[in-house]
Amino acid sequence: MKVLVIGSGGRENALVWKIKQSPMVDEVFCVPGNGGIAQLAECVNIDQTDFIALADFAQDKAIDLTVVGPEAPLVGGIADVFANKNLKVFGPNAEAARLEGSKSFAKEIMKKYGIPTAEASLFDNYAEAVSYLESLKPPYVIKADGLAAGKGVFIAKTLDEAKAAVKSCLVDKQFGLAGELILIEEHLEGPELSILAFSDGKDVLPMVPAQDYKRAYDNDEGLNTGGMGSYSPVPIVTPSLYGDIVKNILESTVAGLASEEIEYRGVIYAGLIITEGGPKVLEFNVRFGDPETQAILPRLKSDILEPMLACAEGGLSGIRLNWTEEPCVTVVLASGGYPGDYKIGYEIKGLDEASSREGVTIFHAGTKLKNGKVVTSGGRVLNVSALGKDFTQARERAYAAIDKIHFNGMHYRKDIALRAITG
Ligand code: AMP
Ligand code: GLY
Repeated sequence: MKVLVIGSGGRENALVWKIKQSPMVDEVFCVPGNGGIAQLAECVNIDQTDFIALADFAQDKAIDLTVVGPEAPLVGGIADVFANKNLKVFGPNAEAARLEGSKSFAKEIMKKYGIPTAEASLFDNYAEAVSYLESLKPPYVIKADGLAAGKGVFIAKTLDEAKAAVKSCLVDKQFGLAGELILIEEHLEGPELSILAFSDGKDVLPMVPAQDYKRAYDNDEGLNTGGMGSYSPVPIVTPSLYGDIVKNILESTVAGLASEEIEYRGVIYAGLIITEGGPKVLEFNVRFGDPETQAILPRLKSDILEPMLACAEGGLSGIRLNWTEEPCVTVVLASGGYPGDYKIGYEIKGLDEASSREGVTIFHAGTKLKNGKVVTSGGRVLNVSALGKDFTQARERAYAAIDKIHFNGMHYRKDIALRAITG
């Protein structure tokens, strides 16, 4: 079989790496890929927003399955364009992808089908939003309705900050259309985690839980980032909590969508907070998490293509996933200055030595090949994932591998998965 993966980050490197291990797969292509993916797959430069060009490519190359990494093409309807041309795709169609593309749509579904989530009110008028904020107590949670590249969520400690966030969406239109509608949401407290599942529109096949780290620096200080590390499993998830989340959140959401005649095919990602009153949904994503995927896939022993094909074709109920008990820790190596301004083009040294260490796999995020060398090309540069007999060993392996890697300005968190050990 021939598989095409769309995307260019660490998540897509992990997907390509895992898909390549499938005995069903002969060849993997990636649009556009990165410096690490180029060592595993044929990278092709096609505009990711040009779905017709992508479908033409898939047709020309006789691609059997296209796996879409990021949310933007899914929300934009890539799966619909591929389906119209009878091309198999892993990822929901535009209607189902509204679960991530419109937070108000997701709330509506959750409300209708009794899926636990934070209470929220919708506003498109600045004065009304502000007068509602004035009736609340801090911290305030304000979210742009649409896709905002991870920047549309504000947790404001003061009323002034909250008003400024509302103004940036509704008055200054910082997020364009995506922020013309906002949600003001109840602030929830508790540990966060992510549970991802395959779905064929009917059945749901959950994966192992994972936790990511959003802040730039140790002890959750600094700005929010695209993710500075992750680990799997998550020790706070007892079997009964896991069962509750699978049944009352993941299965209920897919079933709810099905009763709306929306067939959800692909991966459904629930971002959760475990409150005193139980798990509640913070957000849904319609694709694999980044960097959660880089800690989840090294634990997957079974063929990933089987559930992916079943999501596209149906028949997920007959499939089981096998996981290693070993935990996995993923540390993101970032460019100096990230998530603010940073420079790119620095040579990365020590990759071979680091990746040959026991239990370690390195996934590239922002890298490219230049004159046979791997150089930095983004804010998040590399993901160092390590399996171990326990979290202590997995952490030691990841950080020992990182000691071998060098590029100008490299920074990373030293506390990834420490929480899984100390509680
Ligand atoms: P989201 O993109 O919706 O996951 O939001 C980004 C981050 O904001 C989450 O990972 C949480 O840390 C935080 N957050 C979002 N919604 C809430 C909420 N209702 N209460 C507390 N924290 C939240
Ligand atoms: N790790 C968060 C996300 O993928 O959205």
